[in-house]
Amino acid sequence: MKMNSRSRLMTLWFVISVALCFNARNSVSASKQCNFPAIFNFGDSNSDTGGLSAAFGQPGPPQGMTYFHHPAGRYCDGRLIVDFIAKKLGLPYLNAFLDSVGSNYSHGANFATAGSTIRPQNTTLHQSGGFSPFSLDVQFNQFSDFQRRTQIFRNKGGVYETLLPKAEYFSQALYTFDIGQNDLASGYFHNMSTDQVRAYVPDVLDQFKNVIKYIYNHGGRSFWVHNTGPVGCLPYIMDLHPVKRSLVDKAGCATPYNEVAKFFNRELKKVVVQLRKELPLAAITYVDVYAAKYSLISHPKKHGFEEPLRACCGHGGKYNYNLHMGCGAKIKRGGKEILVAKPCKDPSVWVNWDGVHYTQAANKRVLEQIVDGAFSDPPIPLNMACHRNL
Ligand SMILES: *[C@@H]1O[C@H](CO)[C@@H](O)[C@H](O)[C@H]1NC(C)=O
Ligand SMILES: *[C@@H]1O[C@H](CO)[C@@H](O)[C@H](O)[C@H]1NC(C)=O
Ligand SMILES: *[C@@H]1O[C@H](CO)[C@@H](O)[C@H](O)[C@H]1NC(C)=O
Repeated sequence: MKMNSRSRLMTLWFVISVALCFNARNSVSASKQCNFPAIFNFGDSNSDTGGLSAAFGQPGPPQGMTYFHHPAGRYCDGRLIVDFIAKKLGLPYLNAFLDSVGSNYSHGANFATAGSTIRPQNTTLHQSGGFSPFSLDVQFNQFSDFQRRTQIFRNKGGVYETLLPKAEYFSQALYTFDIGQNDLASGYFHNMSTDQVRAYVPDVLDQFKNVIKYIYNHGGRSFWVHNTGPVGCLPYIMDLHPVKRSLVDKAGCATPYNEVAKFFNRELKKVVVQLRKELPLAAITYVDVYAAKYSLISHPKKHGFEEPLRACCGHGGKYNYNLHMGCGAKIKRGGKEILVAKPCKDPSVWVNWDGVHYTQAANKRVLEQIVDGAFSDPPIPLNMACHRNL
C-alpha cells in the first residue's frame, strides 16, 4: 500500500517534470519562430514561378510534367526551391507579380524572372546573350509600386482585401533572393574570360547591396539571401566554353567557372556583413546554396541521385544539351513535328533538368539541406530568419 502510493507519486512527479520540460522547450522554440505571414521573392529562373512566361510566353511541355502535369511558368519538371520554402512556412506558392490573371498576392509576390541579372544588361532577350529586361533594379521598382498600390486597393475592401497583403506584412515578411548566376553567365556569353567576369563582380554586388537597402527603407526586415550555385557544373556553361581536362574537377565540373562563382560568393558574404552594420534592424541570413547544390553533384548517391551532370531533358552532346535544341524542342520532318529534346524516364534520380536548371527532386534536396540552418550564416533555420542571432 505504502509502496504503491509512493510509486504513484513518483510517476506523477515524473509526468509533471516531463511535461514542464516539454513546455519549456516548446516555448523557447515557439518564441524564436517567426511566423512569416508573407514572402517577397527576387531572382532569376532559379525562383521564377511565372514571371518571364507572363511577359514572353509559356515554356512548353514537358515543363511541369512531374508535379503540375502541365507547364506552370517554371523552368523545371515541378517545384522550385522557393516553392518548398513557401510550403515549409505554411504559405501558398507565390504568384508572379507579372502574372495578372488568377493571382492571389495575400501572402506575398514573386518578382523573379528567368534570365534576370542584378545589373541591367544592354541587350534584349532576343539577342544572343540577351537576358531578361527585369533586372533586380526593375524588380525593386515593381515591388515598390506593388507595396504602394496594394494598400490603396486593400482599403477599398471586398475581394481586394482577400487578394492583397496587409500593410504590416511588408515588415513581417521574409524577403528571399536568388540572383547573380546570370550576371556571371552574361560575361561568358559575351566571350569574356573568367578574369574579365571576376573584374565586374564588385560592381554587380554594389547594385545588389543598394536594392537590399531600398527594401529596408520600405520596411523590409528579414532577408534570406542565397549565394550563387556552381555554374561550372551546368551543361549550358560547360558546353558553351569547354575547358581543358586538367581544369575539370572530380565531380566533372569546370573549375574556372566555379572559382568565379566562389569569388562572387565570398564578396557577397562581405556585402552581407556590411549591410548588417548599416541596417541595425535587419536580420540578413546568408545561405550557402552553392555547397548544397555542389553536394548533390559531387555525392549524388548519398542524396539518392543516379545522374548528377547530364541534362534530363535535352538533345545530344556530352551533356544531353544543345543550346539550339532546348528541352521540349521539336523539328519538322516530312510535314510532321517530332519531339527531339525529350525528358528522361525518371527525373527523380537526375539532378539537372534541362542543362540550366535543377529538377524538382534536386530542388527539394537543396531545401532539405538548408532549411535547418546548416548552410546559413549565422546558422539560423528558415523559420527563425527574423532573428539576427540564434
Ligand atoms: C550598360 O551600358 C551602361 C552605359 O554605357 C554601362 O554603364 C553598363 O555598365 C552596361 N551594363 C553592362 C552589364 O555591361
Ligand atoms: C487568397 O488566398 C487567401 C489565402 O490562401 C485566401 O484566404 C483568400 O480567400 C484568397 N482570395 C481569393 C479571392 O481567392
Ligand atoms: C563568341 O564567340 C563565338 C565563337 O567564336 C562566336 O560565334 C560568337 O558570336 C561570339 N559571341 C559574342 C557575343 O561575341
